[in-house]
Amino acid sequence: MSLNFTIFGNHPSLSLAELLTCYPAIKKPVLGHNFAIFEQDWEPDAAMNLLGGTVKLGRIIKTLSISDASPQAVADLMGQGQETGALDFGCTIYANSQKTRLKYKNYPIQIKKALRAKGWSVRWVTGKGQDDLSPAAVAKCRLTTPPNTDLCLLISQDKVFVGRTEQVQNADAWSLRDYGRPFRNDKAGMLPPKLARIMVNLAGIKKSDTLLDPFCGSGTILMEAALATKSERLIGSDIEEKQIHDSLKNTEWLIKEKILHREELSRFKFIISDVKQLAKHLPVKSINCVVSEGWLGPPLHGHENAREVKKNAEKISDLWQKTLSHLKPLLKKNARLVIIMPSFKAGKEIITPSVVHEFSDLGFKVINPIADYNPQTILYYERAGQHLRRNIFVLNKN
Ligand SMILES: C[S@@+](CC[C@H](N)C(=O)[O-])C[C@H]1O[C@@H](n2cnc3c(N)ncnc32)[C@H](O)[C@@H]1O
Repeated sequence: MSLNFTIFGNHPSLSLAELLTCYPAIKKPVLGHNFAIFEQDWEPDAAMNLLGGTVKLGRIIKTLSISDASPQAVADLMGQGQETGALDFGCTIYANSQKTRLKYKNYPIQIKKALRAKGWSVRWVTGKGQDDLSPAAVAKCRLTTPPNTDLCLLISQDKVFVGRTEQVQNADAWSLRDYGRPFRNDKAGMLPPKLARIMVNLAGIKKSDTLLDPFCGSGTILMEAALATKSERLIGSDIEEKQIHDSLKNTEWLIKEKILHREELSRFKFIISDVKQLAKHLPVKSINCVVSEGWLGPPLHGHENAREVKKNAEKISDLWQKTLSHLKPLLKKNARLVIIMPSFKAGKEIITPSVVHEFSDLGFKVINPIADYNPQTILYYERAGQHLRRNIFVLNKN
């Protein structure tokens, strides 16, 4: 079995949860702050296409002890069996502390020198400032095409894992689905497609499963579910006719852009309905998975006081209490829900809808997909400068 690594995006806990849900055979990974190393037989390109929270992945070509991991030893692993020639390489140090990273600061230049001494014509591709070499730079400079190499030196305790990147996240494809689609609703809150993808993956959807997003808005979750799963039934509902129109147009756009095949349109079903009226449209016990970002309250400007924010949070709680009790009869046994609960910043206070403490009373068990590694964690997603944090809850119907 091959030893692989993944480099996580900006929300490592979410990325790890996604990885372990998609590849449940992974046991005892070596974990760093933003990477995982594990044995798993997989198709690297299929894994990269699936995972929303992983930005690079590849193979560990050698595991060295700290004392053996000289720049010369690393350089000797490069070249893919060729004696000499020309190659471009990148080199990023992944470690849990800045202090450790700094210890390896001069490695790239020394690796370059060692390769030159062996007769290679070498170009070292650098990141911006202190940054890691980005997936986009790796793709642009074709560093995954041998003998070019994107080296990832992953430092964990007394070992240096020398990784060679095989796949990087396709930034253009993600950005096209985010900004290129015809309908976006920035006011109601647009779920980033990468987060939608991670949520879909956390639901572990199978071909025979029926997925429902009862607050589908412009359809981000359904679009990602169509791409990442084989589910034959993807149902989106929303109280607003305009949102259902937008979802429909966005899914048609996926076909126009050849991101999805035309026949796949038959997988989608859209319903205009208040979530509390869904029983009029859907049979009992017909849904296996719910993946949804509900109503997030009115858009915030950042100057709302704690009282206003708390009032909104309670409205969100009230809607989710009703939503869960109306959805319950429609759900199959052991149905899985992956839902977003916002937290709001009001001055120094962080306010979260109280419903997050009531899931078990409402008949749902809270699952922590990374309980073996981080039992305390709450999975969340946030962007700098936003007043809103999106907490991601994974629930199983009791
Ligand atoms: C935050 S938006 C969802 C955005 C969506 N995830 C997307 O990426 O486009 C919340 C959606 O919930 C819908 N909504 C609010 N109250 C609802 C209700 N009672 N029943 C059904 N939909 C509702 C709104 O119309 C809105 O489209």
